[in-house]
Amino acid sequence: MNTDIHQEKVVILDFGSQYTQLIARRIREQHVYCEIHAYNIGIERLKELSPKAIVLSGGPSSVYDKNAPIINADIFSLGIPILGICYGMQLIAHLMGGKVVPLETREYGRDVVYILPQEYYDDIKDKEKTEDNYKSKPQKVDIGNKSIFLAPGKLYSGLSDREKLDVWMSHGDSIIEPPEGFVITAASGYAVTASFENIDAGVYGVQFHPEVSHTPQGSEILHNFLFDVAGLHGLWTMRSFIDTEVARVKEQVGNDHVICALSGGVDSSVVAALLFRAIGENLTCIFVDNGLLKKGETERVKKVFKGHFGMDLHVVDAEDQFLSRLSGIVDPEKKRKIIGNLFIEIFEEEAAVIPGVKYLAQGTLYPDVIESVSFKGPSATIKSHHNVGGLPDVMNLILIEPLKELFKDEVRVLGNELNLPTEIIGRHPFPGPGLAVRILGEVTKKNCDLLREADVIVENEIKSADLYDEIWQAFAVLLPVKTVGVMGDERTYDNVVALRIVNSLDGMTADWVRLPYDVLARIASRIINEVKGVNRVVYDVSTKPPSTIEWE
Ligand code: XMP
Repeated sequence: MNTDIHQEKVVILDFGSQYTQLIARRIREQHVYCEIHAYNIGIERLKELSPKAIVLSGGPSSVYDKNAPIINADIFSLGIPILGICYGMQLIAHLMGGKVVPLETREYGRDVVYILPQEYYDDIKDKEKTEDNYKSKPQKVDIGNKSIFLAPGKLYSGLSDREKLDVWMSHGDSIIEPPEGFVITAASGYAVTASFENIDAGVYGVQFHPEVSHTPQGSEILHNFLFDVAGLHGLWTMRSFIDTEVARVKEQVGNDHVICALSGGVDSSVVAALLFRAIGENLTCIFVDNGLLKKGETERVKKVFKGHFGMDLHVVDAEDQFLSRLSGIVDPEKKRKIIGNLFIEIFEEEAAVIPGVKYLAQGTLYPDVIESVSFKGPSATIKSHHNVGGLPDVMNLILIEPLKELFKDEVRVLGNELNLPTEIIGRHPFPGPGLAVRILGEVTKKNCDLLREADVIVENEIKSADLYDEIWQAFAVLLPVKTVGVMGDERTYDNVVALRIVNSLDGMTADWVRLPYDVLARIASRIINEVKGVNRVVYDVSTKPPSTIEWE
């Protein structure tokens, strides 16, 4: 049976908040499908999307600015439940006849907001949970030396902890007068409106950010909006995604042939596994061993995809070609170009011998897609960078991108559902140009082998310390520097290895991991003792920005 997992679609209109993607991820976590669109997509297009609920994101503007991003007020007459967050809420106030003014003191960071005490909600629970009960009369509440009238809020129904909510605020404007028909349901410490609602109109607003982790009950609040207000059921699961996508790909591809560039990373592995489930032998995966990979990578990929799944896998041994083109090259961008171009050449050659290829499968993810649809605000700057790519442009093939609706965390769940081994699903990112950008200076076979040995030690020690899953990336970098050391009675003059171990949410910013000293000590001593040619290990304590994660 196929349930249409897209039928309960939520549309997030993006006003340029840095948290827009986070809103989407939080909604997806509730098993509800959502899409991000630019705030100005237009009412007609919005109607075509037929969302079951709409979220207006935050954003850096003020509603009264001359060039503020504004939506058509007809959106409030569509009969679709709407939740405005931060700027989104102010926009609701502005467009529906309320009043928004600059705050004397910006409210920024961790904060608390006040809602009506438990008993008012118990009252509702005891009676029937009807809309009229939620509209019970606002009560006067004293906050400091001010007072404000608050009504029980539908968004706060059944919260595990109430009265005072910890929230994350980030705004310089505030609503001093809600539009007619709205009741205030939460107030800040300055007795300023922190949320409001108009149940009859189906319009809700929160000044704080329920999507960030500093609002601990934010997920419950979003849940109330999605399930109690909008009446959704949570159909979006990776299991149902597989059914839908497998059926779609089968229908699209028919008896034609698909090729897929398999790198062994999470995304291309999940694409391969998903397509294999859909079309089996009509899929051929091409794995190019460029000699710049981790130790044992080719064997691992063969074991999983050929051995375990039984896929048609073409492994191309191109180590010599890559190393000879890289010979004498030290400039990082030149290295990247050479590797990218040669990869395309080899891939094309290999694809040419496979008869009847019509499609090329790629592991494009949702954040890559958002960039082209989103508002040109901070959320749009998150992009997939450095991709060794260009394949679709040069090959005359139709693209299949089965992951293009998914966030990375969803891809991992999907991989799990598709029975990919956890060692693949939970892998750290590995750059397309591989060890070439971790060997500073010239890339040679000897240097690659040396770095592979050091890399295995880093990975194994981090795994033995049970830290691998908590870390974004951990790797060794070979420096073109020799230093003096002593080993036994002998003086050595050998290379330096730097350790780069960082945490990050999306690769755009990063911080170095405060690794326990004993783990660092074990890694360093093992590298120096076991990797011939290295006599010193240093730890990189730079953040990104201003440094990058990779050294080249
Ligand atoms: P940087 O070094 O820019 O890296 O802070 C951010 C993330 O991107 C990865 N990275 C690459 N990935 N091709 C890739 O496919 C590349 O050329 C490349 N350079 C960096 C890096 O490993 C980190 O996860």
